[in-house]
Amino acid sequence: MENDRTEKLRLIKDEVLALKSSPLYEERVASDVFPVIGEGDHYTSIMFIGEAPGKNEARTGRPFCGAAGKVLDKLLASAGIERKSVYITNIVKDRPPGNRDPLPEEIECYAPFLDRQIEIIQPEVIATLGRFSMDYIMRKFFLDQEIETISRMHGKEYDAKAPYGSVKILPLYHPAVAIYDRSKFGELEEDFKKLSKYIKEGK
Ligand code: URA
Repeated sequence: MENDRTEKLRLIKDEVLALKSSPLYEERVASDVFPVIGEGDHYTSIMFIGEAPGKNEARTGRPFCGAAGKVLDKLLASAGIERKSVYITNIVKDRPPGNRDPLPEEIECYAPFLDRQIEIIQPEVIATLGRFSMDYIMRKFFLDQEIETISRMHGKEYDAKAPYGSVKILPLYHPAVAIYDRSKFGELEEDFKKLSKYIKEGK
């Protein structure tokens, strides 16, 4: 039931909005910005998980709407995937100040919300963007033994078991790497092609 998923995701949004215990809550209020929960098709087979919102994302409350988002949009287009047909979120829902890497306690604080998003959307494939989400997702699905550097893991599909059934994990470089290193765009493009097969008819 459509409303059911949307309702559950809305509840997550309300909870994150009220999350005073977050190490990033004060910063959000002081900067007068928004948490970024996620957006896209609640019935998709493909879920992307990035790192944390940047400046543009926190200003608008939308994931990947700045420079990295432009790269992501090109990659989706090159794989023939419409952005509105996938779901895009991050592990950390609030912006770490100065675009620094998320801290372990920030990941720990927001991970339960990501876990719930995965259980609600039940994707067939989880495409991680960057090493933080790759690390978290591999460990969450008991694939710790398989963890190597992202340069060795990107583009490989890993089989995992979720409470709702089987799921593939596809680690990808973070799209931001292609802003400064053009050669990475080609590698990302190759990896994104692997997602085309998960797009359902009519999506
Ligand atoms: N980088 C991320 O990891 N997520 C965003 O939403 C934007 C940039």
